Amino acid sequence: MKNKEHTISIDISDRSVKVLLLSDDLRVKAYGRGKLQKGVVQNGFILDNERFSEKLSKVLHHTKPTKLRKESEPLKAIISLPESRLITYYFNIPASVSNEHIRKYVEREASQLIPFELERMYWDYLFIDGGDIRDAIFVGAERDVVDKYVESLERIHIEPIFLGGELFSLGRALLTEEHRKSGTIIVDMGARTTDIGVFDKDGVVRLSVTLSFGGEYITETLAEKLGVNVLEAERLKTNRELSKEYAEDVLAVVKDVTEELMTEVDRVAVHFKRRTKIDVKNIILTGGTALLPYMLVRIEELSGISTSVANPFVRLKDDHVFDETAPPVFFANVIGLALRGRVDDVPAINLLEACQRCRAEASQQQRKKQLERQRFEFKRENWREYGSITFAVIAIIALVLVLAHFL
Ligand SMILES: Nc1ncnc2c1ncn2[C@@H]1O[C@H](COP(=O)(O)OP(=O)(O)OP(=O)(O)O)[C@@H](O)[C@H]1O
Ligand SMILES: [Mg+2]
Repeated sequence: MKNKEHTISIDISDRSVKVLLLSDDLRVKAYGRGKLQKGVVQNGFILDNERFSEKLSKVLHHTKPTKLRKESEPLKAIISLPESRLITYYFNIPASVSNEHIRKYVEREASQLIPFELERMYWDYLFIDGGDIRDAIFVGAERDVVDKYVESLERIHIEPIFLGGELFSLGRALLTEEHRKSGTIIVDMGARTTDIGVFDKDGVVRLSVTLSFGGEYITETLAEKLGVNVLEAERLKTNRELSKEYAEDVLAVVKDVTEELMTEVDRVAVHFKRRTKIDVKNIILTGGTALLPYMLVRIEELSGISTSVANPFVRLKDDHVFDETAPPVFFANVIGLALRGRVDDVPAINLLEACQRCRAEASQQQRKKQLERQRFEFKRENWREYGSITFAVIAIIALVLVLAHFL
């Protein structure tokens, strides 16, 4: 078996974990999914390593059409972090900054913006040299967050080899040749948050923003409006048949939310045009909330831009193993991760490389400190020895002098 065949993709969200293995010709070799209990992963942070690893291990033993894992055979994995767990900045690099000084420049700029020490993060940057437009994308994540992902996988013999932002993965899964002729916005409307990313013709995210509302906010607003509890509101929201009866109410909530969303989409598109001189000609909606009736129509109406709901299955040769009842939007991230390295790839930031670099630097520093401590100990020992010899010599001289005095 080739090494690549052991590289799986794992999509971890607060509620579920999905794994996927693709063949070289983009057929599904193995797919599996498991629900996560509340409190295992929260806001993209693994709170309970043990339960998380246990669940993932079970999922790996029950994949279809083939069983992915036979006992604890080692695997490699490509994973992502939700955008809300990343700190991303987009910098313009002045012409006066030479290529070899970009890292220092980005580090200095980012450290002024980040409200805590840069040493608490794994970070890296991507340099985009567009001739007269030189940009750098800074991406960082708190070390505690990344370390938990690494630890949780390693304890069940999975070696994570790539960890990037979710938008990069969505771009890989959703952008077609047609989209790449101009700028495209991907709007990922999840449960807690909504991410907006603008992609250039190379499929690279050149601007992004995370809004702190998503499907949960819509459910809560609907619950309040209809005077029902949140569970009931969620049932009404996600069931097309039921929601027909409440069409007016659902539409009113969608209207409010899309207006707020479109203000941000417009802002991002204008800013992107100013920076890159590229027009945004497409919007792709993904995430569960994109399935709300009227959402697509409303966004297309307000933006005047061609809008579609994501279908990552078009990138694959087959899709029959995925849960038939779940729409394709739910698989965009796991497919995008699995496509990494298999299709014409776009540059992306791998925070694990940053993590390895930091670990190497840290162990180098630790070695240096240890060496210094050893040197210090050696000197102290020597002094102790010299001290005792000196003391003995002085004592002997004193004794000789005393004896000489009396004799
Ligand atoms: N058919 C549907 N119609 C409308 N909303 C839906 C539908 N199915 C699921 N949702 C909503 O989609 C949301 C979940 O989407 P998704 O799985 O993309 O979120 P997530 O990735 O877990 O969340 P986040 O990205 O915020 O961490 C929930 O709020 C859910 O109510
Ligand atoms: Mg999501």
